[in-house]
Amino acid sequence: MNASIHRTQNPDANENRQLPPVFASAHPQTEVQQQLLQLAAGAVFSRAEWTALLRQRQPADSEFLFPLSEALRQAHYGINVYIRGLIEFTNDCKGDCLYCGIRRSNHSAKRYRLTKQQILDCCLAGYKLGFRTFVLQGGENPAADESLTRLVLQIKQRFPDCALTLSAGERPEAVYRRWFEAGADRYLLRHETADPDHYAMLHPPQQTWQRRMACLHSLKDIGYQVGCGFMVGSPGQTDEHLAADLAFLQEFRPHMVGIGPFIPHKDTPLRSYPAGTLELTLFLLGTIRLLLPQVLLPATTALGTIHPQGRELGIRAGANVIMPNLSPADVRGNYMLYDNKLHTGCEAAEHLNDLRRRLNAIGCDIAVCRGDSLM
Ligand code: 5AD
Repeated sequence: MNASIHRTQNPDANENRQLPPVFASAHPQTEVQQQLLQLAAGAVFSRAEWTALLRQRQPADSEFLFPLSEALRQAHYGINVYIRGLIEFTNDCKGDCLYCGIRRSNHSAKRYRLTKQQILDCCLAGYKLGFRTFVLQGGENPAADESLTRLVLQIKQRFPDCALTLSAGERPEAVYRRWFEAGADRYLLRHETADPDHYAMLHPPQQTWQRRMACLHSLKDIGYQVGCGFMVGSPGQTDEHLAADLAFLQEFRPHMVGIGPFIPHKDTPLRSYPAGTLELTLFLLGTIRLLLPQVLLPATTALGTIHPQGRELGIRAGANVIMPNLSPADVRGNYMLYDNKLHTGCEAAEHLNDLRRRLNAIGCDIAVCRGDSLM
């Protein structure tokens, strides 16, 4: 099954589209399955085509997809799953996203900020366990910009062989640049939804889709490895919105894509909306692996929260990154973006050994390295 010749091809179609043998022996039985093979061959879909793919998918299409997306992950990354040590350094946030448990307007959230020493201690504990990427994730807080710059300098000085990822929301380009010059390598900022009207449903008027997009473009221009992403099944989300998300990924070509199910939080305005599903999240993970074969794709905490085997299933669908929590145990319960968020950490070697065993059982292993993007 080949993409028809008049189709637009991805610019990297020739260099990256060496498909593993399983593709040659795949026999598509449905239109969705044909589309998946076209995608893997480098086809660029219109919004209408993306929408049709999502709308028509059946369980058999996922069964068809996962061996392909898994083979593609293996072709690029072998058995490696990269671990990132997640340090949730503060839940103090000036943002007011309607879905998020640490939004400014949630006065029930118990606020905290780790000290520099606590953060460095988390890094050291993580380093000893084999982590070579640290992710500093925290609420948006302009007052802390310069202390974060100093922290980046210190972490990079103490751990020169480690990559440092920041995830601290929307900041002016000059701030992103200072953090980059201080040594930050990567930045995670989910776009949340590629549809401006849907974005406006999920955020207060002062937080705009235009600003979010401008931030993502600045980050890329500065030279960060950039991660974007969205929640699956967020309130008001339609197949057309998801089609816009996939089209955006195809165009923006991020180095990393973070997706996980929306999960309601009891102290937010969107508390009564249902959670996103495992099924759709896994289908999207597999589809994103075909779309961007070399992308870094985490099996997220939210996926692990809605299903006990969520993260393993995510890896089997094509994900290749896991982000265990390195934050001190006593603050973990306060970084509650949504109800029942998993907060077992990886502070102890036995947790990591357990993760390794679970990965070994599905033919993968933890890689002790920075795990930079191949894109
Ligand atoms: N359910 C799932 N994910 C959430 N996030 C925030 N709130 C929720 C929720 N209720 C995600 C957002 C944000 C990231 C840090 O966490 O996509 O970008």
